[in-house]
Amino acid sequence: MSGINGKVIALTGASSGIGEETAVHLAARGARVVLGARRKERLDAVVERITSQGGEAVGLVVDVTRREDLARLTGEAVERFGRLDVLVSNAGTMAISPFDELRQDDWDAMVATHVTGLLNGIGAALPVFRRQRSGHFVNVASTAAYLVKSPQGVYAATKTAVKILSEGLRQESGPDLRVTLVSPGFTDTEGVGKGAGPEIAAELVRQRDEIAMPPSAVASAIAYAIEQPAHVDVGEIVVRSTAQA
Ligand SMILES: NC(=O)c1ccc[n+]([C@@H]2O[C@H](COP(=O)([O-])OP(=O)(O)OC[C@H]3O[C@@H](n4cnc5c(N)ncnc54)[C@H](OP(=O)(O)O)[C@@H]3O)[C@@H](O)[C@H]2O)c1
Repeated sequence: MSGINGKVIALTGASSGIGEETAVHLAARGARVVLGARRKERLDAVVERITSQGGEAVGLVVDVTRREDLARLTGEAVERFGRLDVLVSNAGTMAISPFDELRQDDWDAMVATHVTGLLNGIGAALPVFRRQRSGHFVNVASTAAYLVKSPQGVYAATKTAVKILSEGLRQESGPDLRVTLVSPGFTDTEGVGKGAGPEIAAELVRQRDEIAMPPSAVASAIAYAIEQPAHVDVGEIVVRSTAQA
């Protein structure tokens, strides 16, 4: 199946920011979307936004660090819509801090969300994709996967892991599956600086407000990869504001 219309697309981190914008964008183009995130109210609002515009969407409370939650997300797609064409692994946390602050819970959360969370998605979707003999993984990394800037060490390391896992998966995926890495630069979302200490958060928000691109830029990049003909695999997209060094 080529294009976006009619595809069944599951997205994690769909309750705000890039995930929300991507869900809305894909649903407006005829995708049936299955949305996962932890905040039920925000998720319900995204589902309402899509369905009120005539789109098809369902939301599930999902914590990507929990293996069984990803199995529920992909299972819901198959049960409700009969298949799963794309899994967009987008859930993320940008609780950035210098090492000396020893915010080890935040380090753990970034590893659990970006690395374990991605692996949980692969574990849940790969058997479905193999059975169908088609499927597409779209993994959201960051420009931090290409260039580490202090104090983003842990964040950049986990996003570099997303990049490496995507390439490893691509090499093993064979002729039927597609794997795309999408790496955004500064994007205007509520997640920038969230969970970071007050000084770092203020600096990140200042930079965001100065140079960020809208989340729709990332949604378009993801849609571009998905809409290519089935035998065309867009490997990597880096999308950033022209103002970002
Ligand atoms: N904004 C940027 O400048 C930028 C740049 C490069 C890359 N990115 C990446 O883009 C992705 C989306 O971020 P964003 O900017 O759109 O920020 P955001 O608005 O904060 O979105 C993050 C999403 O991830 C979800 N999430 C976080 N932890 C989760 C978990 N354990 N299980 C399930 N969902 C979880 C959040 O929902 P709940 O809290 O409801 O669970 C939310 O929907 C992230 O991977 C981020 O690293 C962002």
